[in-house]
Amino acid sequence: MEKKISGVQIECRHGDITNQDDCDAVVNAANARLETGGGVAGAIHRAAGPELAKEARPLAPIKPGDAVITKAYRLPNKYVIHCLGPVYGNDKPEDKLLADCYSNALNLAEGNQVKSIAFPAISTGVFGYPIQEAASVAFDTILKMAPTLKSVKKIVFVLHSIQDLEVHEKVLEEEFKN
Ligand code: APR
Repeated sequence: MEKKISGVQIECRHGDITNQDDCDAVVNAANARLETGGGVAGAIHRAAGPELAKEARPLAPIKPGDAVITKAYRLPNKYVIHCLGPVYGNDKPEDKLLADCYSNALNLAEGNQVKSIAFPAISTGVFGYPIQEAASVAFDTILKMAPTLKSVKKIVFVLHSIQDLEVHEKVLEEEFKN
């Protein structure tokens, strides 16, 4: 599914965050230490190679809502933007901290002339954020920022399951009605 707002294309697709070869940057659902992990962090570090953790190490630790940028090494992208999402029910207020991830990532993308960026559904795996609530925070933040974006022209949401894709498509459709 694709939508356009203020010249920015927003797309939801089913897939793996490590295979997004049409995007300048991919976002990592990171841990505070910027190390490899499960889910997205494990897949990104495995695909990028050990240089990624080496570059990231001096930038750690990061706090919930923070974003930092590194090169992408063996991934088919220029950059990885690492975001630490909130742990649902623990890091409060979780909606603001999750929104901060998206806005800080987009600001870093803008600062590095990124034209296209792919996000996973931050915090919705190990960190337990309900998928529909998370999608609504993500799209709210992105739709509000879209008119201010100068470099970023394409924002892709990469969902690992068809079910998560369907939830995102539904929430995005609703956001465009409002
Ligand atoms: N590509 C795209 N999406 C993926 C992939 C992948 N390769 N692998 C998992 N996902 C999905 C999950 O299904 C979930 O919906 O990404 C979403 C985020 O899941 P997590 O990677 O678990 O991220 P998060 O909930 O933010 O938890 C971060 O998990 O791996 C650890 O070290 C990491 O402590 C950190 C925590």
